[in-house]
Amino acid sequence: MLKNDILSLRNLSAKQILNILDLASNLKEQLLTYGANAKYLEGKILGMVFQKPSTRTRISFETAMLQLGGNAINLSFNDLQLSRGESIEDTARTLSLYLDILMARVYDHSDIEKLSENAKIPVINGLSDLFHPCQILADFLTIFEYKRKFKDLRLAFIGDGNNVCNDLLLGCPKMGMDIRVATPIGFEPLDWVTEIARENAILHNTDLLITSDPVEAITDADVVVTDTYISIGKENEHDRREKIFLPAYQVNSDLVQHAKKDFIFMHCLPAKREKEVSSSIIDGFHSVVWSEAENRLHTQKALLLMLLRPEFYNISGLSD
Ligand code: CP
Ligand code: NVA
Repeated sequence: MLKNDILSLRNLSAKQILNILDLASNLKEQLLTYGANAKYLEGKILGMVFQKPSTRTRISFETAMLQLGGNAINLSFNDLQLSRGESIEDTARTLSLYLDILMARVYDHSDIEKLSENAKIPVINGLSDLFHPCQILADFLTIFEYKRKFKDLRLAFIGDGNNVCNDLLLGCPKMGMDIRVATPIGFEPLDWVTEIARENAILHNTDLLITSDPVEAITDADVVVTDTYISIGKENEHDRREKIFLPAYQVNSDLVQHAKKDFIFMHCLPAKREKEVSSSIIDGFHSVVWSEAENRLHTQKALLLMLLRPEFYNISGLSD
């Protein structure tokens, strides 16, 4: 790999993730203390391509660039010649002539791979059907803020084995966390991702379980995570999925009785209350979803800084 692209958590080592979290904490502290960040990214421009809607990813990336003294340009799919059939390859080559860095949210993960292969600038995955690395970096910062450690924590993911679940599987074992995933049969995470996660779990001596039993997954969990079971692009499966996921895979007060008493609840948002999670949980005492959403801003600032100012904040040496 000639340049540093973040397409999933697969090619980030635990040390690199910890470096990102450390820098994110410092930037957060700087913002809270002084009301502003130093303009580390003056003159730098981020392009953001969106094939799908977004609230948090779009606004937090744009705010991150502006607060660091740079600029961000929102490139809605429909406004680009992509929508009229220009190839992703030619779009990537063209955008590399104007921008310093690119973030894209795509339906098909192969689209972000094509952007990465053809762009001369760093490419960040802002969510694909398979992965959501920026979300999991923010989740890790949030977990550390509330639990002050990763090692010996147990994370339970209840729901669809989707993009969020795949990157949690890639990330948790490396960080020393146990991960237990409960999905309905037929909605498991990707096999090859689970294989990598198993290898990492053996390497780091952590526990990994994929089950269809939510109680088995959530038992003694320190961190309980869920996500929508109707991801963007799956809307036409709404009725079928609702019958499969409800009520068994809803995170509610009955289910969390099996978690540790001091568990935290996380959800990347947007959430549908009374569907994948009850209001009593997402709006309750254990929920940290607003810290999680806020931390998107801080972790993405760190990522941008590391990719755009490698002379100061080196993230080099990403493995394949
Ligand atoms: N969590 C997340 O990625 O939110 P958006 O879809 O609003 O960007
Ligand atoms: N799994 C969800 C995450 C949204 C942030 C989706 O892909 O729509």
